[in-house]
Amino acid sequence: MRLRDVNFPSIASSEITPEDVWLNRRQLMQGAGLGALAAVGMTPSAAATSSTLAELAAAAADCDGCSTDESLTPYSDAISYNNFYEFGTDKSDPAQYAHEMNVDPWSVEVGGLVNKPGKLHLEDLITGFDLEERIYRFRCVEAWSMVVPWVGFPLAALLERFEPSSDAKYVAFKTLYRRREMRGTRSFTSIIDWPYREGLRLDEAMHPLTLMTVGLYGKVLPNQSGAPLRLIVPWKYGFKSIKSIVSIELVDKQPATSWQQLAPQEYGFYSNVNPEVDHPRWSQRFERRLPSSLFSPNRIQTLPFNGYAEQVASLYKGMDLRVHY
Ligand code: MTE
Repeated sequence: MRLRDVNFPSIASSEITPEDVWLNRRQLMQGAGLGALAAVGMTPSAAATSSTLAELAAAAADCDGCSTDESLTPYSDAISYNNFYEFGTDKSDPAQYAHEMNVDPWSVEVGGLVNKPGKLHLEDLITGFDLEERIYRFRCVEAWSMVVPWVGFPLAALLERFEPSSDAKYVAFKTLYRRREMRGTRSFTSIIDWPYREGLRLDEAMHPLTLMTVGLYGKVLPNQSGAPLRLIVPWKYGFKSIKSIVSIELVDKQPATSWQQLAPQEYGFYSNVNPEVDHPRWSQRFERRLPSSLFSPNRIQTLPFNGYAEQVASLYKGMDLRVHY
């Protein structure tokens, strides 16, 4: 299967998204000139019967924190204002250069402390899981934020297939590292020890809000957004949401992560969104909700856990989040 040939089955967003959210989205997309409603992804088998659809609709409605009625960031901003240092450090570099990365064929190795190590191929990612739409706030450590409708499946569904062993305590992720196709990694100003790495505690990884993502706005992820597979952890700063994943390893010790390695006093392993803990060089109390400009900064207050405290605060019970930032 070729990634560019993949069409998420055309099922109206209204069928699985609460109506008010969908209406808001529809107005926005029409306003942005994006034309017809984007389809929402789900597997062809799941799409086959209306009873399955109804079940999915019910599941989405039941899922606490899986949607928001805040206005969506326009698609054009989400795919043109990016961080993907493999292609350069300017926000416009990924949109300009990420097409140089070949994402087909693609495979993700899943191993370490699991009973059934193995590989997932591109087609497994697109059709092997029940895809859902999740509308999440996305807060970058640089104090900008977006609201994005992602298409994906819970990371827990992926991990369960490989059966984590009882010794597994953390999950370590790696991005593709292909110098020839990633000009940012060849740059003499490149600061990261490639490949880009991230990690989660196993209970964070298994949390229902933690999403493996293959699409956004009803479309397949474009390369600059982390095609074909990226992580989205909505209560953490955006750098935890690692792009273009090729390796997932279950481990028993807290894994090294790229930003923590680079500047441990600025970026911690947990990196939960926390307005009470400033970055050493700027405040984290407010954020610019994109689109924003000098004259219309769209500045809003940052919420603990990016507004997902009700769903995730219990994961950190008893921990001092000033120490474990
Ligand atoms: N993943 C990789 N492999 N390389 C990166 O440079 N940047 C991170 C994260 N994932 C990054 C990455 C940062 S800092 C942010 S804020 C988000 O991706 C940005 O995601 P977006 O471009 O889709 O908004």
